[in-house]
Amino acid sequence: MARVNQLLDHEDYICYMEKINGLEKERLFCKHGFEHGLNVARVSYAYMLENRDVILPKEVVYAAAFLHDIGRWVEYQTGEDHAEASARLALPLLEACRFSLEDIQLILQGIREHRRNPADNLTPLGEALALADDWARDCRHCSAQTLCYKFNDEMKQIMY
Ligand SMILES: [Fe+2]
Ligand SMILES: [Fe+2]
Repeated sequence: MARVNQLLDHEDYICYMEKINGLEKERLFCKHGFEHGLNVARVSYAYMLENRDVILPKEVVYAAAFLHDIGRWVEYQTGEDHAEASARLALPLLEACRFSLEDIQLILQGIREHRRNPADNLTPLGEALALADDWARDCRHCSAQTLCYKFNDEMKQIMY
């Protein structure tokens, strides 16, 4: 996982996380810092191991998960969809960490798809990220349940 560790140490990744942490300080709902990336990485990789015929390399899945929300701060500042912003910001980071062109294309596509309906014929990585994005959250104990547009009773049952 050397390239993922390199990614987490990259000054731009650290800078984006700091911006997001700052902008989400008063946020009632789920936050999108390092912990969210790690949770999505673990859940999406577990999902792939259990459910997919084609398992992507762990580094590819983890890199995509850690990067899928790095454009959140852009969305807060400009209104641009953060899936697109995250993919754009992820490209130079992935190049700097020596991911292959093929892996980069898979990761950017997965990031772009992570907000879509998982049943919507997504790439395997996009589907795993979209599902893990919900399953990686502790909605059952969240104090903002009644205010959250994403919350429904089904989410109280989700344990992954
Ligand atoms: Fe997101
Ligand atoms: Fe997310």
